This record gives sequence, C-alpha cells and structure tokens, in this order.
Amino acid sequence: MKTFDQDPTDPAFVQNPYAYYAEARAQGPLLFWQQYKMPAAFTHEAVHTILRDRRFGREVPTEMAIQGPDHLAPWLKVEAHSLLEAEPPRHSRLRALILRAFTSRTITALTPDIETLCHQLIDRFPDQPFDLLNAYCTQVPVITICRLLGVPEKMAPELLRWSHDMVAMYQANRTRQTEDTAAKSSAEFTAFLTEYITPRRTDPRDDLITRLIAAEEEGTKLSTDELIGTCILVLNAGHEATVHALSNGVKTLLQTKTQSHLFNPETLDTTVEEILRHDPPLHMFTRYAYEELTLFGHHFYRGDQVALLLGAANHDPTVWGAPDQFTPTRPIQTNTSFGGGLHFCVGAPLARLEMRVALPILFERCPNLRLFEQPQYSDTYHFHGLSNLIVQT
Ligand code: HEM
Repeated sequence: MKTFDQDPTDPAFVQNPYAYYAEARAQGPLLFWQQYKMPAAFTHEAVHTILRDRRFGREVPTEMAIQGPDHLAPWLKVEAHSLLEAEPPRHSRLRALILRAFTSRTITALTPDIETLCHQLIDRFPDQPFDLLNAYCTQVPVITICRLLGVPEKMAPELLRWSHDMVAMYQANRTRQTEDTAAKSSAEFTAFLTEYITPRRTDPRDDLITRLIAAEEEGTKLSTDELIGTCILVLNAGHEATVHALSNGVKTLLQTKTQSHLFNPETLDTTVEEILRHDPPLHMFTRYAYEELTLFGHHFYRGDQVALLLGAANHDPTVWGAPDQFTPTRPIQTNTSFGGGLHFCVGAPLARLEMRVALPILFERCPNLRLFEQPQYSDTYHFHGLSNLIVQT
C-alpha cells in the first residue's frame, strides 16, 4: 500500500486539505497515513463502502479495551457510555431512544422558534466589524439544542466551554494539557447534569431529558451513566459541527458571491447540500475491523483501524464533476458529511433545518454583509472550521 506522509497540523494542509486529498485519491482508494499509523480511505467508493460494512465498527474490540490513565477517568467514563462509541445491541437501544426525540415532526416544529432566534441575534449585531462565528453561527445551534434537550439557555456559555474542551481530545494537536482540561470539563459537565436531572425527575416536561429520564427509570433501557453520557453526546454533537457548517457556508457564499441563490426556494436545498459537500466541518472518523478480511486490496486483521476521510470522499471527481468548485445548483447526490450506515448522524435533519433557516434570514437581513478579514481555518484537524469570521454588515 502506498504511503500518505502528511502532518495534519501543517498550516498549508489545515487551510486547504482538499488539494492534498486529491493527490492521495489519485494513488488509490486506501493509503497508509504515516502520521496516524493506519490505512486511510480517500475515494467516495471506499469511504461509502466501509461506513456500511458491518465487519467494521466504532466500538473497541473487547480484547483490545484497556483501562485508560487515571488522569482521564471522567472523560473516559462519558465516552464509555456514548452511543457513538457503541455497537449493537447497546447502540440500537440508545439510538432508538434518541431517535424518538428527533422525528421529522418534532424537528420541523422547531422552525418558528429558530426563525425568531435568528432575528433576535441579528437585531443585536453591532455596526462595526464583528465575529459572526460567535455572534450568530455558534448561537443558533447551541441555543436550539439547549431548548430541544430542556437545558436552560443561560447555560450555553458553560456548555460551549465543556464541549470544546472535550472534543479537543480528537484533535491532531492534542497534548497532556488538552487531556487535563478535557477531564476537568467532563467532571464539571457530569456534575451539572447529575444535579440538574434530580429535580427534573419530579418535574416532567416535553423535552428530550424528560424522555431519557423516563427510560432510565424503567431500568432496563438506560442506566444513569448512559443517561448522562447520552445527554452530553447530544449536547456536544448538537452544536460543534453545525456551528462550522454554518460559518464555512457563509464564508463560501461571500467569497463566491452566490448568496442570491439562497432566496430562491427551489435552490435552497441544493445550496445547503452543496455547502455540506463542498466544505464539511468534520473530515475524518475511524473504524475497527472486527474480523480478518481483504478490502480494496488491503488485508485487515481483527482490531486494525482504518480512517475514513469524509472531506476527501465529498471531492471525488468520479461522483462530482469539478468537485472543488462551489455550485449551489448542483443536483443532490448523497455526500458523506453526515457519515453513513449504523452511525449515520442522528441530528442531520436538525442541522439541515438550522442551515435552511439561518442562512436565508442572515442574507435577507444583511444584504451588504461582507468579509472584513480573510478567514482562516483553525489547527484542529479532524475538525475543519474557522477560527473566526470577521464581517461587516
Ligand atoms: C452539520 C452538522 C453536523 C455534521 C456534519 C454531523 C456529522 C456527523 C457524523 C459524520 C457522524 C457519524 C460519525 C461516524 O460515523 O463515526 C455523526 C454522528 C452523530 N451526530 Fe452528527 N453532525 C452534525 C450535526 C448534529 C446535530 C445537530 C446533532 C444532534 C442534535 C448530532 C448528533 C449526532 C449523534 C448523536 C451522532 C451519533 C450517532 C450514532 O452513533 O448512531 N449531529 N454526526
């Protein structure tokens, strides 16, 4: 197998990984990524196939599971009860519980609330240049997920801090400091939810936490640790990626001067899908092989890992012509931004709704919106999002 020797913290790669993906993809479906020490899939076919192949999964094979270091215990405990790190039957049980709160009816019913929220945020925009990432792209998803779960909105700044500290564990630039901060924030997040859930047991409302508490009280469906782990996963996943899907989208729309397409209801869906395909916020997820098998010319042994490059798959020229070009009228072909198979993103309908609502309102209310500074992506691979988005209205 050919080798891909690329530091994921290299500034040129961070700013434009697609150029490097194109070179890798031209050499074959799987390359050995030197820095991650595992094969990596770069073509759409390879990523799409492995996401759906049940001989691969996210949960660590039992014989490989090791007790992590003590200093990481609070973070590891949350992870151990995360649906994202589970395979059936545990995964099916947890996912079914969450999906009940994510029916298309529940999500569509959020539309007027999200619209009002967008207008309120825009009302507060200053006259001088400001960071749209912070003032808008972050606020829409974080407040929406707080409301859906039933967590007070005033907690949003804490939730953001805890979440950023925890997901930093997946970034290529992780250090011991990252680990200590993640452990501290996991402990604080767990303590907050434990305390918050106790009175909610006798005060049911129409929200996801109430439904999860009911499942926990039935005993067989959800343990207390799973309840906490699930709330943390949904709260974190509910904003981390959408924030950057929105801001990457605004950046592209402004740079390519294509915002007028948004106002046409016929092209709104294709515009949102093209934003998600063209510059997705999450670029890489990994899988373990659960048995010995040969795929795309590579022989896997049980326990081997493989990296799936979602961002590379979305720019595969055999599926999308001129893939690096942003074409908001491009006919929709399923991209891999939300993954695929068993772990396909639970929040995809919510994320798409937030984008469909927040982007047109922003451009309608701020017709002169323009970039004030050249935006830069932050050194947080496999996340692909901007450090800030300084604009003027
Ligand atoms: C544009 C925004 C989003 C993107 C690009 C995104 C992307 C993804 C991806 C790629 C996965 C699968 C990871 C894998 O296969 O290893 C995933 C899983 C997940 N996402 Fe999202 N996501 C977004 C928004 C959301 C939102 C708004 C929520 C919740 C409200 C959410 C909740 C979840 C959950 C719970 C999982 C785990 C599903 C499972 O393991 O079965 N995501 N997401």
